[in-house]
This record gives sequence, structure tokens and C-alpha cells, in this order.
Amino acid sequence: MSETDIAYIQGRRVWDSRGCPTVEADVLLECGAVGRGIAPAGVSLAAAEAVALRDGGKAFGGLGVSQAVEHVNGEIAQALLGHDALDQETIDRRMHALDGTPGLSRLGANATLAVSIAVAHAAAAAEGEPLYRYLGGAEADTLPLPQVQIFGGGAHAGQRIDVQGVLVTCPAARSFAEALDWSAEIYRAAGALMEERTGPVGVADGGGWWPEFDSNEQALETTVAAIEKAGLKPGDEVSLALDIAASGFGANGHYRLARDGRELDSDGMIRLVSEWIAHYPIASIEDPLASDDAAGFAALTREMGGRVQVVGDDFLAGTPDRIRAAARDGAANAVLLKPDQHGTLSETRAAWQAARAAGYAGIVSARSGESEDVTVVHLAVGWGVGQLKVGGFARGERMAKWNEALRIEGALGPVARFAGGGAFGRSPARG
Ligand code: PGA
Ligand code: ZN
Repeated sequence: MSETDIAYIQGRRVWDSRGCPTVEADVLLECGAVGRGIAPAGVSLAAAEAVALRDGGKAFGGLGVSQAVEHVNGEIAQALLGHDALDQETIDRRMHALDGTPGLSRLGANATLAVSIAVAHAAAAAEGEPLYRYLGGAEADTLPLPQVQIFGGGAHAGQRIDVQGVLVTCPAARSFAEALDWSAEIYRAAGALMEERTGPVGVADGGGWWPEFDSNEQALETTVAAIEKAGLKPGDEVSLALDIAASGFGANGHYRLARDGRELDSDGMIRLVSEWIAHYPIASIEDPLASDDAAGFAALTREMGGRVQVVGDDFLAGTPDRIRAAARDGAANAVLLKPDQHGTLSETRAAWQAARAAGYAGIVSARSGESEDVTVVHLAVGWGVGQLKVGGFARGERMAKWNEALRIEGALGPVARFAGGGAFGRSPARG
């Protein structure tokens, strides 16, 4: 028996930022070190992503997690007790083997992810290190470029506008803290502009302002106006990052924009996005086409990938096979990394390795349903991913993550580096 062997695992049901049930796991090691993980939950679900186990039925809209929690306390605990928490890969592989399905649907990816995160935290605690340092060693010295949501949209805001998120990113800032300062001023300015236009305004699921607009373009214009109102220069100092999440309103080469009723095919969608890129200071676009539109992704990347970062979220589902296939086609140049798309941290890490090998940039991302769990920040720093997206500049579950990154930057002190604009994905061909 070793000091870092798993002695006890406790699963429980807790609640996420939308008030929905989710899975929490605590892992205790023989040496007394403990770690905790909480599974997040998204709404822009990729077909290829791991599957959270939900109870179904009437209670909590069918979103109960009692079976997933039972699996943590039963089968998963039994299979992992006595195993060394320092060997994350073996632990994650064991959970996969135990589950027996590709998408972890039997045990529940929410169950396995909560345990996987808890094991990592317990191991780091046993080593007496913060998680980012445990994961990345002394090389983990780079704070990611944040993407901060100014307006929500899509499925995060009742489809009020089609685009799921209008975000800002501050590559010209000199540090993570300064990038957050600028984002805070822009967020505040955007709120004031909305108040002037429509009166008091609430926030969407991810903490961005509620999109009280008649068109997608109005949201983009208002964000540019907010950058200026904050005393910053759109394009030079601050750029827009759009999460279009096109699978939310398109499939089979057909897109229907709910706000203005426009119907577009894949080429029409590419033209629309290209116009936005021409008219607004956009540095990054995520899922500009539906996840089944690989040819559209390749065409758009050929045209625009030298100018902007083209991010595959639902399109790539963070899957190494899909990343490699997309890279062969020249489709997208960056990948979103959401640990719950995989169900274990080892697979998220493998996805990042596959992305890097393919020349893609990476963005570690939280989900729309979140909690006080700040693990994603440590993954971004520990693995040197370069970009981080955890929602807007409001709501505790979002601020917890921004604040954790500030703590890490402070702890690194003079050796802290900031990824800045070098973190963006760019295709070799200039568009
Ligand atoms: P989700 O959205 O967590 O609701 O899937 C986040 C994203 O698409 O980036
Ligand atoms: Zn997305």
C-alpha cells in the first residue's frame, strides 16, 4: 500500500448554476490528502461527446443524477480503491473499461468526470502542489488569453439572438490581470449601454448580458460601442470572439436565423460570417457552421483562416479522430476543450495533444451549467493551452474561475507569462 493510494470515494448530488442536479465526488487518499470534482453541463451538445447519465422521469425535469451518484459510490469506488492517485491515466482507463461503452453512458460521464477531477486534486494535494503545477511542472508559467462573454445568446438566452455568445478578447493586454481589467470595463460599459436602450437588463446562462436585440448585428455593434465607451480601441487592443454555435439553428446544410427569419444554405452562412469578419473586429469564430458541415468548415477556413481563428467546438467534440480528420481537410484551426465532452481528464489531455500535433490552437472551456469548481483554469495553465473561456463577467461560478486565474498569476509572480495574441489559431494560408 502506498500513501497516495485511494482510500475512500464519496459521491453526492449537488446543484449547478442553472439549479440543475449534478455530480460531486470527493476522493480521500491514504495519506489524508483530499480532492473534489464537480461535473459541469452544457446545452450545445456535440453528437460525438460523452454522455452524462440522467435519471429521466418527472423530478427535476428528468435531470436527476441519483444513478450516476450511486455509480460513484458503488462500482467506481470499488474499482478504484487501493489504486495510486498519481497514476491518473490508469485510473481514467479503468473507469472506461468498467463502463464498457464509448461515450461512458452506462456509468455516466458526469460520474467519471467528477471522480477524475477529484483524483487529480487529491494527487496534487498529496504532492503539496497546486493543480496547475502538479500537471505542468515548472513549465506551467503561462496564463491563458481569456475570452469574456459580453452578451449571451442562442440556447443560453431563449434563442433571443442566433449567435450563442458575443465575447471579447484582449490580446494587447500585458498580463492576464490587465486583460480582465479591460474586459470588466467593457462588460460594465455594455451593461450601461443596454440600460440606456432598454432599461434594466438581466444576464444569460453564461453570465453575459441578456441579448435584448432585434438582430445579431446589433449585438456586435453594441459590443464594439462598449469597447469604445470603455476607452479601448476595437481591433487594435480588443477583438470580438463569436461563438456562433451554428448547430443550434442549422443542420443538413440548412440554417434558419430565428431573429430575421432568413434561411441560408452552407454557402450563404459562409458569406454571412465573412461579412461579419469584414465589418467587425473579429479575431475568433467558434462553430460558424453546423457540426455536420465539414466541407463548409474547410471552405470557410480556406477563405478566412489566415485572418481569424476558426474554432471547432461541437464540430470537433474535442475528439482526437475528428481533430486529425479535420486537420487533413484544413477545417478549423483551433479546438475547444471541455472535459465533460470526454468524461475523464486523461482524454481531454489526449485531445489537446492531438490538437497540438495537428497545429491547432486550444481553448479550455467551461460549460453553460457550472459550479464553484475551478479545475478548468488549472488545466489551461498546467497544460499550457493558451486560451480560456468561462463565460461572462458576472455570476459566482464564472467569477470563481477568473479569480482563480488571478491567484495563479499572483502565485507565479515575476515568472508569470501571458499568452496574449500568440495563442490564437491561424491557418498557414493567408485569407
Ligand atoms: P454549452 O456552451 O456549455 O452550453 O455547450 C458553451 C459553448 O458552446 O462554448
Ligand atoms: Zn461553443
